[in-house]
Amino acid sequence: MTTSLFNLLALAQAQTPVPHDIPLPLPADRGLLVGVLIVMFLVHLLFVNLMLGGTLLTAFFQGRSIFTGSKDDDRLAYEIAKTITVSKSLAVVMAVAPLLAINVIYTVYFYTANALTGYVWISIVPAIIIAFLLLYLHKYTWHYDFMQRHRKLHLSILLIALAILLFIPFVFLTNINLMLFPDKWAQVKGFFSAMFINSNVLPRFLHFFMASLINTGLFMVWYVGRPSMDVANKFTQVTTADLKRRFYRLATVSTLFQFIVGPLVLFTLPSVGLSMGLYVTIGVGVLFALLALMLLSKEINAEDAVIGSYFKPIILLLSVTVLCMGTGRHMFREKALVGHSYDMRKKTAAYVVARDAAYELWLLEQEAGGGGLDGKSLFTAACATCHALDKILAAPALIEVGELYKDNPQGIVDWAKKPGRKRLEFAPMPTMAHIGEERLTAIARYIIEATGHAKPQSPTQDVETKVINSQ
Ligand code: HEC
Repeated sequence: MTTSLFNLLALAQAQTPVPHDIPLPLPADRGLLVGVLIVMFLVHLLFVNLMLGGTLLTAFFQGRSIFTGSKDDDRLAYEIAKTITVSKSLAVVMAVAPLLAINVIYTVYFYTANALTGYVWISIVPAIIIAFLLLYLHKYTWHYDFMQRHRKLHLSILLIALAILLFIPFVFLTNINLMLFPDKWAQVKGFFSAMFINSNVLPRFLHFFMASLINTGLFMVWYVGRPSMDVANKFTQVTTADLKRRFYRLATVSTLFQFIVGPLVLFTLPSVGLSMGLYVTIGVGVLFALLALMLLSKEINAEDAVIGSYFKPIILLLSVTVLCMGTGRHMFREKALVGHSYDMRKKTAAYVVARDAAYELWLLEQEAGGGGLDGKSLFTAACATCHALDKILAAPALIEVGELYKDNPQGIVDWAKKPGRKRLEFAPMPTMAHIGEERLTAIARYIIEATGHAKPQSPTQDVETKVINSQ
């Protein structure tokens, strides 16, 4: 019994692909990159929320005005529609930093998930473009006579965009979920099977959806209160206080829903990533959400004249909640991957050893054939992928390097064995220690010579060197 269980476990492990990582240093401190990932992802998400929530509300109020003929609803829908394309642009721009951060921190995991969901993952790009164009079309044709006469047609442009905007998070969530479970990679056959590797994707989508309504509700409370909204003149039935109360109510109801959806997300998370620290972090977030909820209910019941007085504290409290959730999400990710990334580090180390040995063998063969490699050929073999004489490739040009070290070839050798960090516009240089002191010295001499800094070997210099050596 125990043996068969053991065999099963071994089998499961054998099926878990363990690729080696790219043996290069990270371009910045890992802690910094993680901070960027957590914070900038939340900023990105905020605008995604406003884009989706804004689209939903616009569709709702425009739809309602079509059926009831309410001019106020139509006006409100138009005011919200004007914000969507702005949120959309910010969402896209703010996606760059977290996307780069996740790529360098979780390279192997993220790329594998991308590859396994292939076509659907890449289809995000054309899908987003289409959705964005539809949003602009909808906004800019609002007052066209044709659209005023065919309002349902006009609304359906927005509804198609909405459908696309609702689908994209599914793709993203599936990917981000898949990257955490390497033991499932071998079974995945495309996007739809990836979606169901566990039951977590749907609850997470609902969590995201509710967050969109909360954020958009609160955003609208601020938006309708701006003087340029001019509710008193532009609207016939509703007042600013009515509108604020309406959007506070939306935020409140959606927050209440999060108290159901949140636990659902937590309980459908595979246990590999759960930890005490995660529960505490989420717990703190929930506490702040409860406080926010109390203030929200005060706002809903407030007199017209004072409604909005708790707005800033509510935003502050919920920001803490969101930061806790973002941190919790990262904690889960780290814990879920800890075993696999340990295996991967071992594999990467083994790969580096094998690579260096193969390289050494190759060099020996070359040297045996040609009676020893000169500095130039060694440089071509070891450094020229990144360094060129007078061109900046992935690294500074040799002219600069030669100038820096013209009196100090050993400095080049020392740097190459243990590179430092000087020019932040480049990725860090990986160590070249495996090439060996002797060959690096030949390379260093070549660099200095090729950049025109070599000194003629004068007899006095030889004497000086001898003097230093004998001291
Ligand atoms: C993978 C790309 C890569 C390879 C291969 C590479 N380098 Fe570099 N090298 C860099 C980068 C990037 C920098 C700039 C790093 C910085 O300034 O932070 C650099 C900088 C240098 C510097 C400048 C140090 C200083 O003090 O400013 C020297 C010297 C150098 N490399 C020597 C070598 C030698 C010798 C080799 C081959 C044995 C080599 N490099 C191979 C990427 C590379």
